[in-house]
This record gives sequence, C-alpha cells and structure tokens, in this order.
Amino acid sequence: ALPKRVKVVEVGPRDGLQNEKSVVPTPVKISLINMLAETGLQVIEATSFVSPKWVPQMADHTQVMQGITQLPGVSYPVLTPNLKGFQAAVAAGAKEVSIFGAASELFTKKNINCSIDESLERFSEVMAAARAADVPVRGYVSCVLGCPYEGKISAAKVAEVSKKMYSMGCYEISLGDTIGIGTPGSMKEMLTAVMKEVPVGALAVHCHDTYGQALANILVALQMGVSVVDASVAGLGGCPYAQGASGNVATEDLVYMLHGLGIHTGVDLQKLMDAGTFICNALNRRTNSKVSQASCRL
Ligand code: HMG
Ligand code: MG
Repeated sequence: ALPKRVKVVEVGPRDGLQNEKSVVPTPVKISLINMLAETGLQVIEATSFVSPKWVPQMADHTQVMQGITQLPGVSYPVLTPNLKGFQAAVAAGAKEVSIFGAASELFTKKNINCSIDESLERFSEVMAAARAADVPVRGYVSCVLGCPYEGKISAAKVAEVSKKMYSMGCYEISLGDTIGIGTPGSMKEMLTAVMKEVPVGALAVHCHDTYGQALANILVALQMGVSVVDASVAGLGGCPYAQGASGNVATEDLVYMLHGLGIHTGVDLQKLMDAGTFICNALNRRTNSKVSQASCRL
C-alpha cells in the first residue's frame, strides 16, 4: 500500500548548486531557499560545511545560513563531514545536520578522502557532539545502486553501512542513487536488504535521474513503504565526485506524481514551479522539470 503522506526533502540549494561551474551569488541562494520555504516544503537542505578547496560552490555556507529566514516548522539541514564542519554549522545557526557516507570504498575516498571505516569514526565524533547539542542528524549512504568507480555495489554492503549509520543515532537514512543508474528492479532488491536492518519508517530515497529512472524507482520505494523522498527543484544538480551524474529527480515532477497518486505533501506546486523558474533564470538555463516544461516556457 502507498503511504498517505510523503515528506519531500528539497536538496536543490545544496545538491543542486554544489556542482555549478559558475559562482552562484549568495543572495540568489538565499532567495531560492526563502522561496522554497514558502511552498510548504518542510525540509530544505541549505548548504554544506565542507572544505571550500574541495567544493568552492559551498564556500559561502555561513553567509547563507545567516542570510535566510528560518520559518517555524521548516528545517534547514546542512552537510557536515566531520567535527570541524559540525562546529562551523552550529556556529552559523544550523539546527540539523547530515553526515554522508557511501557503500563504496573508492567513492568514499574520492568524496571525503578516507575509507568507509575511517568515515564512520569521523561520523561518531559528529554524532557525539550532535547528541550533546541536541541536534538531529540525518545520514546519507551514497552509491546504493552503483558506483562511478567500483561499478556494481552489493545490496548487502548497502544494508551493512546503513545499519551502522542508523545504529549510531541517525534518525533517518537517505539512500542515494548517486549516479542515477538504478532501475525499479535493483531498487527493490536493495530496499529488501536494507529494510531487514533499518525500519522502513527511517528510510528515505535520494534518486538522481541520469538514466531517466528516478520516478519509476521512487514509485517502487513508495510501494515498499518508504515515505520520505529527496528531490531537487528544477532537477538541478549532481555530485562533483561523480562525473556525468545529472541532477536529482525534479521536485516539481515528484510532487506532481505524488499528488496524482492522492498522496499528501503539503507542497504548493505552483509556488514550487515559481522557485524553479527563479533559479533557472538566475543560472540562465532551462529547467530539467518535465512538469515545468509542460506548464510554461523557460
Ligand atoms: P581532507 O583534505 O582529507 O581533510 O578533506 P583534512 O582533515 O586533512 O583537512 C584538510 C584541510 O581541509 C584543512 O585546511 C582543514 O582545516 C580543512 P588547510 O589546513 O589545508 O587550510 N577542512 C575543512 N574546511 C571546512 N570545512 C570542513 C573541513 N574539514 C577539513 N568541514 C573533507 C576531508 C571531508 C573536508 C573533504 O574531503 C571535503 O570537504 N569533501 C567534500 C565532499 C562533498 O561535499 N561532496 C559532495 C556532497 S556528497 C553528495 O553529493 C552525495 C549526496 O547528494 C547523496 C548522493 O547523491 O548519493 C549527499
Ligand atoms: Mg545527491
């Protein structure tokens, strides 16, 4: 049975913009986040407290956090790979953070410059600090349906890493198809393995749309009981450490599908499309949302 309501986690300001070649002015990021907050979205991932040498596009994280209007009832999590990032995030006003690991050794090395085991040690330091400061932590597991460096990733490995991050105290585990290579078949196999280790109520899916499979994969996840879905307005994005990977499923397209299924999201699709138009105009690019393409001319 499908869930009655779905929490949509908007990752556009972070996942969407981290990969942009040209510098996106901080005021544009702030306006985008504020517009997204007015759509009814409950979660908007705002930025990353990572090294500016590694991801220059997120170097203005403190200004972004201090510039946005944090609405009541909306959370604005940020990525924190280590204790240094966590401390900077909290100092900048973050009230929720995300740690991000992967089910692939090589991707972990390229993305955060350590092994999976080392990453888990760093994460437990973040978890301890977060617990002390009463900050909720979300956990990402990347490469759950394939890796740009290792190819196939076993569902057992995904389940193992997910279980470890959940056991550490992450309230939610977001399963990332970083390169958008999965199909409804591989999604079902992977989720079946992960759901033996982590309760389905604590799982989210994070589908990039590189192979055009994201909505189909999400539908399978919904049918299996997942009720939290990540998406990026206008389908922006990619990962700097996964070359050629395109953006997440467009939030507009996800919301359109969910509403069509009679699933409540609390999101106003028109306002969401307006936010998509705003960021596409600012970036001087065409939207990747099929729903927006059908509804207006960008
Ligand atoms: P490192 O070089 O191994 O770290 O990088 P280090 O501890 O050796 O420190 C080296 C330098 O970085 C030092 O500065 C530190 O102070 C600084 P220096 O002395 O050279 O001037 N540093 C930091 N600066 C700012 N913030 C920090 C921080 N930590 C150390 N938090 C590190 C390790 C993790 C920092 C680095 O590899 C990094 O920043 N990686 C960025 C990874 C990233 O943002 N990837 C994209 C997001 S993940 C993603 O997109 C996938 C996802 O969407 C899900 C999916 O699709 O699958 C989430
Ligand atoms: Mg991603």
